[in-house]
Amino acid sequence: MADTERHPFLQGLSKHRGAPPTVVVIFGASGDLTARKLIPAIYNLSFDNLLPADFHLVGYGRKPIPDEEFRGIAAAAVKEFSRREMDPEVWKRVAANTTYVSGGYDEKAGFDRLAAHIKDIEKGVGSEVQSLFYISTPPSVFFPIIQNLGASGLGGRYLGKPHHSKVIIEKPFGKDLDSAKALNAELRSVFQENQVYRIDHYLGKETVQDLLVQRFANSIFEPIWNRNYIDSVQITVAEDQGVGTRAGYYEQSGCLRDMIQNHTTQLLALTAMEPPGSFEAEALRDEKVKLLKAIEPVALGPDPDMARAQYAAGMIGGKKVPGYLEEKGIAPNSSTETYAALRLSINNWRWQGVPFYLRSGKRLPRRVSEIAIQFKRPPGTIFPQKEGFNLAANTLSFQIQPDEGLSLILNAKVPGLDTRTQPVKMSFRYATTFGSNTPEAYERLVLDAMIGDGTLFIRGDEAETSWALYTPVLNFWQSQGRKGVESYSAGAWGPEGGDQLLTSRGHVWRQP
Ligand SMILES: NC(=O)c1ccc[n+]([C@@H]2O[C@H](COP(=O)([O-])OP(=O)(O)OC[C@H]3O[C@@H](n4cnc5c(N)ncnc54)[C@H](OP(=O)(O)O)[C@@H]3O)[C@@H](O)[C@H]2O)c1
Repeated sequence: MADTERHPFLQGLSKHRGAPPTVVVIFGASGDLTARKLIPAIYNLSFDNLLPADFHLVGYGRKPIPDEEFRGIAAAAVKEFSRREMDPEVWKRVAANTTYVSGGYDEKAGFDRLAAHIKDIEKGVGSEVQSLFYISTPPSVFFPIIQNLGASGLGGRYLGKPHHSKVIIEKPFGKDLDSAKALNAELRSVFQENQVYRIDHYLGKETVQDLLVQRFANSIFEPIWNRNYIDSVQITVAEDQGVGTRAGYYEQSGCLRDMIQNHTTQLLALTAMEPPGSFEAEALRDEKVKLLKAIEPVALGPDPDMARAQYAAGMIGGKKVPGYLEEKGIAPNSSTETYAALRLSINNWRWQGVPFYLRSGKRLPRRVSEIAIQFKRPPGTIFPQKEGFNLAANTLSFQIQPDEGLSLILNAKVPGLDTRTQPVKMSFRYATTFGSNTPEAYERLVLDAMIGDGTLFIRGDEAETSWALYTPVLNFWQSQGRKGVESYSAGAWGPEGGDQLLTSRGHVWRQP
């Protein structure tokens, strides 16, 4: 049954967004992200008839892989990871135009072969074809790929036309302010800013986009979206998983770089920015940058605005799990944080005096991402402060994942002959209203890049502004070694220091 038949709310939504003839080239085509997200995204776009008629997929990597074998690898990825079961007819369409080119990332000859291959594809199509390069490799090879895209002429194809070359670059976008600046400089040596799509897949999530719709398509929120009515904001991005097999990467990264600098800060920017003049990419990104620039520097002490910790052994889902320092591949004296919390102040008319609390961590009780807007309590109350009168602060929460939706906590009268009150929750759930088979973030983002819509991507100055905020914290932590690294049991909601950031200001973390 079509999605629209099952869910009448979906009726009338346009399915056609018109990308020009395109060849998507994935660098790192044998990698984990390609298999789990990128190939399934392309398959599902094809399923929804959202790919252009002349769509080609080219894998690029160091290992020589025959075309047929690459198609087999890609088919297996769709079978294992796609949100929809594989429809052989749909896959046949994608597979017919899927090929592979092998070469090194620092080997100009490999990029020349790629350029010749794209020319052949173009000959077959019979018209100019847009190239979209997806850099899905470890960051150690970002630079040589960018340089070779420049040297081979691939980066500059059809400049001045809407179907000019485009490049999507995966995270992490640098590891501090200096490295982000260097990466931006490298990109600018080959590409113009409107050719570059820095990805943060959180922005492709339905609920993150819904945040914009809720804020700017409903007239009831804007008048109260400020310091006069809002008491504080909490943003949580929690994982129940430990470091797993990613020890090598995580030891170099830690929670602040891995989650706070990008995903959590993006949620903050969208929650707190001023209404943009339009829904155009630049208008929206200008507002995000303005907001990030208004955030006060993070106090490092004596009443610090941040806390960091590592998980110790504990219980998750009824199972005993080891502590971070006991995990395979982790240095026994590692100071890498698996939890970070921040208290941020935004120095502008809308938000002055409203604390924004951010936290993220591994081995927290459950996987959940949410933004909770806590409103001020009513001034005084006509209701007696006694048993039976349980009044909560109104809280609007956007649940980003899982169980995507929106809820509002209100106080209501408990039915009965005497007057008693109790907080109640009004909820909207995506899955109930629209069905649960919503597009994955990568589908939306790959399609947007093909169309040339950068709204849900990070602009260069935005990446730098975010790093400028967090780099002093990272430097401070590095200077302290293990001093100040707290511990929390796996399965707990973080360390004491994380709680103190709030209790010292009369707040407590919600249990999402
Ligand atoms: N996996 C995820 O869920 C995820 C999520 C968000 C962001 N990302 C980001 O997406 C990018 C790709 O992630 P991934 O997990 O797919 O990475 P990966 O599996 O480790 O690597 C992708 C491909 O890059 C090539 N490669 C690996 N190490 C290399 C090295 N040292 N030098 C040169 N080439 C190397 C390999 O391809 P060949 O050997 O065929 O050349 C490999 O198959 C990374 O920047 C990552 O941070 C990943």
